[in-house]
Amino acid sequence: MKSADGSSVALVAGGLRVSLTEGAVRLEKGSITSAALAAELLLMHVLRRDRAWLYAHPEYELSSEQAAAYNDLIERRSAGVPTQYLTGHQEFWGLDFEVGPGVLIPRPETEHVIEVALSRLGSRRSHPVRIADVGTGSGCIAVSLAREFPHAEIIATDISARALDYARRNAARQAVSDRIRFCEANLLGTGVEPPEQSPIRFDLIVSNPPYVGRNDAPHLAREVREHEPAEALFAGDRGFDLYPALVDQAAKLLRPEGMIVVEVGYDGAGFVRSLLSAPEWSLLKVTRDLAGIERVVSAQRSAWL
Ligand SMILES: C[S@@+](CC[C@H](N)C(=O)[O-])C[C@H]1O[C@@H](n2cnc3c(N)ncnc32)[C@H](O)[C@@H]1O
Repeated sequence: MKSADGSSVALVAGGLRVSLTEGAVRLEKGSITSAALAAELLLMHVLRRDRAWLYAHPEYELSSEQAAAYNDLIERRSAGVPTQYLTGHQEFWGLDFEVGPGVLIPRPETEHVIEVALSRLGSRRSHPVRIADVGTGSGCIAVSLAREFPHAEIIATDISARALDYARRNAARQAVSDRIRFCEANLLGTGVEPPEQSPIRFDLIVSNPPYVGRNDAPHLAREVREHEPAEALFAGDRGFDLYPALVDQAAKLLRPEGMIVVEVGYDGAGFVRSLLSAPEWSLLKVTRDLAGIERVVSAQRSAWL
């Protein structure tokens, strides 16, 4: 068997150890970071086995079909397709999410949104609460919150019908479909009004909106720029375009003492903090991610308004 660049691929003979090494070497040649990990994940996907099984069976020989499938995945990964789009999976908050072209791959730093929501609203876990997730993508935030707040009713919006298809399937996989209403909508606009036409009053509004500035596009990793959906990444020149309308809507739709929790980019905390310093907001908090970057801004809607 030959790879696209003509080099031979010893993926059939030599056992899994050789297959992993060969795969990683080819990925490294394609300048893929974390090449060994990617080779492992792709081989696990082909064999439908976990990592422990791979390392417990170093002598296992791939069938020619398995070798061809692995070879194809290594080639596509070398061409820049994200590993998660090839395997169709990404873990988030300990849950397995289906992902693929057309939906943003959940990022580990977004787990801080869940942590902050839990720390600010955790005392109400055993109560019925109403939550909105704006720009739900794969549904990772909405589904994780549905699991953490077993009595919550959630509205999750997105402008992308394709993303919402993934989100609906993920909610079904995690058995929370009955408590999440998915709506194709611009932020919390048309489409999210409750049937009874009463104003929605949320206890919590969360969002990880697109926040990359067009000016920063050249600095994005190639696989992100070329494969993840632009509408999930970009929001104007600086990445700040969606926050003013989002905060404005939250001020109207949160109940008194309800919380807003939003993720921001590396330079976005100051901008969002200024929006949340208006009199209708209190208890402003900025939470850093594991890299020390200000990542999540949260605040409470004042009780007296
Ligand atoms: C950064 S992604 C976040 C996805 C998911 N919540 C997560 O954390 O992985 C932003 C999402 O917002 C959606 N989006 C972009 N503009 C929007 C808008 N005006 N209203 C609603 N959703 C929007 C995109 O389609 C995308 O799915």
